[in-house]
Amino acid sequence: MTQPPPLGVYVHWPYCARICPYCDFNVVRDRGRTNEQAALADAIVADLKAQRALTGPRDLLSIFFGGGTPSLMDPGEVARVIETAKALWTPADDLEISLEANPTDAETDRFAALAAAGVARLSLGVQALDDAALKLLGRNHDAGSARRAIAVAAKAFPRLSADLIYARPGQTAEAWAAELSDLLAYGPEHVSPYQLTIEAGTAFDRAVGRGTLVVPDEDLAAALFETTQSVLEAAGFDAYEVSNHARGEAARSRHNLVYWRGHDYVGVGPGAHGRLSLEGGKLAAAARRGIADYIRAVAETGVGFEREALTPLEAAEERLLLGLRIDDGVSFAEIAALGLSPDTPKVKTLVEADLLVDDRIRLRATRSGRLVLDRLTGTLAT
Ligand SMILES: C[S@@+](CC[C@H](N)C(=O)[O-])C[C@H]1O[C@@H](n2cnc3c(N)ncnc32)[C@H](O)[C@@H]1O
Ligand code: SF4
Repeated sequence: MTQPPPLGVYVHWPYCARICPYCDFNVVRDRGRTNEQAALADAIVADLKAQRALTGPRDLLSIFFGGGTPSLMDPGEVARVIETAKALWTPADDLEISLEANPTDAETDRFAALAAAGVARLSLGVQALDDAALKLLGRNHDAGSARRAIAVAAKAFPRLSADLIYARPGQTAEAWAAELSDLLAYGPEHVSPYQLTIEAGTAFDRAVGRGTLVVPDEDLAAALFETTQSVLEAAGFDAYEVSNHARGEAARSRHNLVYWRGHDYVGVGPGAHGRLSLEGGKLAAAARRGIADYIRAVAETGVGFEREALTPLEAAEERLLLGLRIDDGVSFAEIAALGLSPDTPKVKTLVEADLLVDDRIRLRATRSGRLVLDRLTGTLAT
């Protein structure tokens, strides 16, 4: 009998102390509605149990609390969700348990409790180490709080990652290189520098439309991407994904690799997605986005998700988009539904343009290809 595939668990906690002007994640302002938050935690636990009935026994590779701001979640509830998942599936020896945190002083004071709850890898939303930049990003912390949070987290958690946002208005390559080096001096094993994206419908999108916010043009953004790669490479980090750099294999995010490699994951909490290989084929699941809707769906149907109708073509596009983000790339076998093989003229042209590499079995994006990933996947998938 073949072994059922292992899985990761994603838990979405949607509350944030303040909504950042660039963010389009499924978030709501935390207004201290403790009853609603307790009901949401109950629904998340119930949803996990109901999804265990679907997956059957599996090895559990990772649990990831994302948001929103899960560092605002009651550590007792974090522990309950972790214990539930560990009891439902078989924890791998190197089970990874991560949580996203914002570096405000109040949250830093809870790091010890979150570590005691079982979190072993903290993903800290530093975003910038410069007060003016943090103000421009609408963050509710300053550089001093971020520095304190990094130092406390480095002691409280065995593994630490820091998120940064670059290609900010007015940022130069020199200032960005200095800021990255400043962060690296704290010794994180993993860094995720994200290029600022202007998402439709956000406050930043409206400000760009009005002309009051001017972001770096394509050339400067490309130069800042190159600075990111060279500073991190010189410091011994591998760019194992477009925006994720780790000091060695063990420091890579096992949970995110589950997504990028197209492996199975259960998603719980409002708006969470899941992908599960079941007997009848691959289940694509998307949870109700509204908090009340999600809680109601779990009460009425057991699970919080609805099936996403993905055609084989859409599933192949998804694999291509995710697989090209990482240095493993994606196998031609997985994207055969797109009619792609090494001899496909589109593939050949992109290889000749130094945007793709193919070894007849897998397709990978080069460093220049990673800069234009959306264009690349758009070309391949049409
Ligand atoms: C789900 S968010 C939240 C984590 C946490 N709440 C925080 O803000 O620190 C994960 C990461 O996505 C990145 N991010 C969110 N919106 C972005 C945008 N429009 N452009 C670039 N990066 C973004 C930020 O670096 C953020 O840390
Ligand atoms: S960036 Fe983080 S804190 Fe800001 S709104 Fe998005 S999820 Fe919330």
